[in-house]
Amino acid sequence: MIKNFLLEMVNKLKRNDSCWCGSGKKYKKCHLEFDERIDAIKFDATKGQIRPPHKIINNAVDIEGIKRAAVINSGALDLAGQMVKAGISTLEINDAVHNFIVSHGAHPSCLDFEGFPKSICISVNNVVCHGIPSKNEILKDGDILNVDITTDLDGYFADASRMFWVGEISADAKKLIEVTKEIMEVGIKAAQPFHFVGDIGAACGKLAKANGFSVVTDLGGHGCGKAFHLEPFVSHDCKAGTGMLLVPGMSITVEPMINAGGKKVTTDNKDGWTVRTKDGSLSAQWEKTILITETGNEVLAF
Ligand code: MF3
Ligand code: CO
Ligand code: CO
Repeated sequence: MIKNFLLEMVNKLKRNDSCWCGSGKKYKKCHLEFDERIDAIKFDATKGQIRPPHKIINNAVDIEGIKRAAVINSGALDLAGQMVKAGISTLEINDAVHNFIVSHGAHPSCLDFEGFPKSICISVNNVVCHGIPSKNEILKDGDILNVDITTDLDGYFADASRMFWVGEISADAKKLIEVTKEIMEVGIKAAQPFHFVGDIGAACGKLAKANGFSVVTDLGGHGCGKAFHLEPFVSHDCKAGTGMLLVPGMSITVEPMINAGGKKVTTDNKDGWTVRTKDGSLSAQWEKTILITETGNEVLAF
């Protein structure tokens, strides 16, 4: 891999060299046509259009690795959902999920990530994201919450989050949760090969605004696969046709954070992590990791 990478830097790979993707196949039988197709594209710098770097493209082995991490990650989210009830602390959910992931030979990626103190994020009501599970945070009737879990296994990462709620919730809260899921789904539909990443944010933003909600733009999705957070940044409210080109083999998250009130957020200055809506309004989020394919995309983690 390193050798090929250097070769690529010095001069173009030759047809019979082994491909830069690490497949072990000859370049001409692997990503040569792929590179030629991208070479033919005129990138419009005024729209921030850029070519994706090779390091974020997954080969078939990489994709299988991400899928194995995703199976454990989905099981962990199922477990979290089963535990949600009035009277339980968010730390109890964190601890059970931690044990589940570790017992499957994997690692909860959030733990110690840039100093994050727990294994998963649980974001309740007006918390937008990065909520820290705590023994003092007891779920109660009417709460809505996002559980965001990332699992890494053998160096491959799968990142997903879901909304849950406790007992009876308001009609407004229910609508926010449902519409936010639809916003994620229209974003995923817009993630097409040889289109641009900005198409995702254009689709998400349009549906959010049609429903009177606002889109958080201080945070967004990201490449995810061979590392937790990779290029590109995935905005959930931006212009179509902007940013990085989406190509087969790229894996990214679509994870809109949608507020019932204004889009502004603040980060807790004591814990340095918890992101809340500035106006105290409810916030919802759903997240999937998807793979861009030749014909569209495939959900890897949900
Ligand atoms: N899982 C989050 C994401 O979707 C990142 C959480 S980072 C943490 O990108 F440190 F807060 F855990
Ligand atoms: Co996540
Ligand atoms: Co993510």
